[in-house]
Amino acid sequence: MGKFILEDGTALTGKNQIGRGLFSKVYQISESEVVALTTDPAKECLALFCQNEDHLPTMERLSNIGEYQVYKMPKYEKLTKQHAAAWRDYKAVEKILKPLKLTKWECFGTCINAVEQSNLAPTIKESLTQLFEMLANYTDEIFLEVCRRNVMVDSRGNLIFTDIVGCSEKLRRVWQARTHRRVTDSNYI
Ligand SMILES: Nc1ncnc2c1ncn2[C@@H]1O[C@H](COP(=O)(O)OP(=O)(O)O)[C@@H](O)[C@H]1O
Ligand SMILES: [Mg+2]
Repeated sequence: MGKFILEDGTALTGKNQIGRGLFSKVYQISESEVVALTTDPAKECLALFCQNEDHLPTMERLSNIGEYQVYKMPKYEKLTKQHAAAWRDYKAVEKILKPLKLTKWECFGTCINAVEQSNLAPTIKESLTQLFEMLANYTDEIFLEVCRRNVMVDSRGNLIFTDIVGCSEKLRRVWQARTHRRVTDSNYI
């Protein structure tokens, strides 16, 4: 894994990497802060239009490194049953959003209606609605990935939706690039 250096000289190395997904690498830079390198357009949307929501991550855009956008964020904790309130909120959201079958253009409406008609806590409803409405400005298609890996808990015990929505088009491009690499790297032809 390559080493990245931030403008202030902070080195992001394999040793302080604490998380990774399809689009992002996350590095701990102090006791309470992380830096995320990401190619996910949904993260840009979160940073620009979804700040000051109780259940959405606090993100400060730092710069770009190659294809990655770089964000500073609080270090959140992994969700466990010990986080009683956040766990309850997560289970309630899982029940509402997981069964949704999303079709291309209807997806935002489907999600927003499901949240609106639910009996989720008001702050959760507000954060999810903001997330879906703002992401609608970014992409025609979203995919939902409501799972434990994609939510976290802040220092006050609040459930935080760090990564439950993505952009389907971007997902397709990542897979196409990987498949292309595998095919061209192989000795088949
Ligand atoms: N603010 C954070 N604090 C601590 N760990 C984090 C934070 N954000 C993400 N992570 C960890 O990094 C992993 C990948 O981040 P995620 O946002 O899900 O990226 P991706 O879009 O690539 O799936 C998460 O599953 C989580 O374990
Ligand atoms: Mg993720």
